[in-house]
Amino acid sequence: MVYKYPSVDDLIKKAKSRIPNFVFEYLSGGCNENIALTRNTTDLWDVELRPYYITDHKEAVLKTELFGHIYDLPFGISPVGLQGLMWPNSPEILAKASLKHNIPFVISTLTTSTIERLSELTEGRAWFQLYHPNENDLRDKILKRVEDAGCPVLVLICDMPTLAYRPCDMRNGLGLPLKMSLKNIIQILSRPEWLIKTLKYGQPKFAIMEPYLKSLNNQLNFDNKLTEQKIAAIRDRWKGKLVIKGIASEEDTEAAIRLGADGIIVSNHGGRQLDVGPSSIKTLGPIVENYQNKIKIIMDSGLRSGPDIARSLATGAEFTFMGRVFMYAVAALGDEGADHIIECLKMQLKQVMEQISCTSVCDLKNHLMPPVYQSRQNSNDEQAHSEMVYNMPA
Ligand SMILES: Cc1cc2nc3c(=O)[nH]c(=O)nc-3n(C[C@H](O)[C@H](O)[C@H](O)COP(=O)(O)O)c2cc1C
Repeated sequence: MVYKYPSVDDLIKKAKSRIPNFVFEYLSGGCNENIALTRNTTDLWDVELRPYYITDHKEAVLKTELFGHIYDLPFGISPVGLQGLMWPNSPEILAKASLKHNIPFVISTLTTSTIERLSELTEGRAWFQLYHPNENDLRDKILKRVEDAGCPVLVLICDMPTLAYRPCDMRNGLGLPLKMSLKNIIQILSRPEWLIKTLKYGQPKFAIMEPYLKSLNNQLNFDNKLTEQKIAAIRDRWKGKLVIKGIASEEDTEAAIRLGADGIIVSNHGGRQLDVGPSSIKTLGPIVENYQNKIKIIMDSGLRSGPDIARSLATGAEFTFMGRVFMYAVAALGDEGADHIIECLKMQLKQVMEQISCTSVCDLKNHLMPPVYQSRQNSNDEQAHSEMVYNMPA
């Protein structure tokens, strides 16, 4: 299988041929003009790692400690809403694979399976990502369920003060409730395996929120405009590890530290919320420089391969997450997709590390080509270039 679909691009092509187009566009799209989405990945490509070839070559160790648990790999599965729409039963497929490979899986408040079921499948290791409910009473009910299920880490999202402007989803009528246009129905009928599996597992629902929908008049009411007070109230109630996701500035990093968070996920939501902001890798550098050792710094957004994971860790992230990559793999290969992509990413990361003679995840930082060096190189190049131009014989 690795040889048939060795890269994420292979999986994207296959996924596109297996799921309705409006679903594919929901998964792959960003917001507005998709600029942040594109930059997340292209800016990562600018990060270069320095190889050392004349040395004792040793095997790279990928195990990484985070919040007191030793994970087998330095990456995990980001929270994704409506997973069952992208491939039926996908949250359960991913949860099982996360346990098998000993990597973290984050349950989204808006996924399509319950906290209890996903925690059972991960033997209580799954993390939980909270969208902040409007009512504190509902917030506490959900937190109680998360605690009872044994989730060790609560991830609080801070980068959704508004509903994003996503032209594709608007064109496709993908909102709540889902508008079933003739176009969408034709797309569904042209993807028989997705349709049969959807009939088997049932129409995807917001399974975690379902018990409360009646009293909320079937409206999902969240208030994701986070304030210090809201975070402090959660910090007070939640005894496990607390991670703030969606951090994109040093100011918010400071607030997270001040409010007693244990970690941050430097993330721009995969380019789905703010098209005029910086890419996540650009934000990461200064945050690492100023706040490493004060809070755990994790990153997601834009990573598509083992080399990208290496780039992010070399820039100073202590752990990485990915969203779309895992969904493409499951949409492409069903039950086998999650295992497949985890194996590919592991092979790719190990190869890069061994190629540059890096034996451990935390040693990757020592292979980063310093930006100072890169920019000095560039300015030297520019100087050399202008000298060349000006010294040209007239
Ligand atoms: C289809 C889709 C749905 C998402 N839903 C959620 C969600 O419910 N909660 C959340 O915190 N982040 C959500 N995210 C953002 C991811 O957690 C993650 O930050 C992002 O996918 C990382 O970028 P990447 O896809 O380039 O890896 C979603 C992302 C996608 C692509």
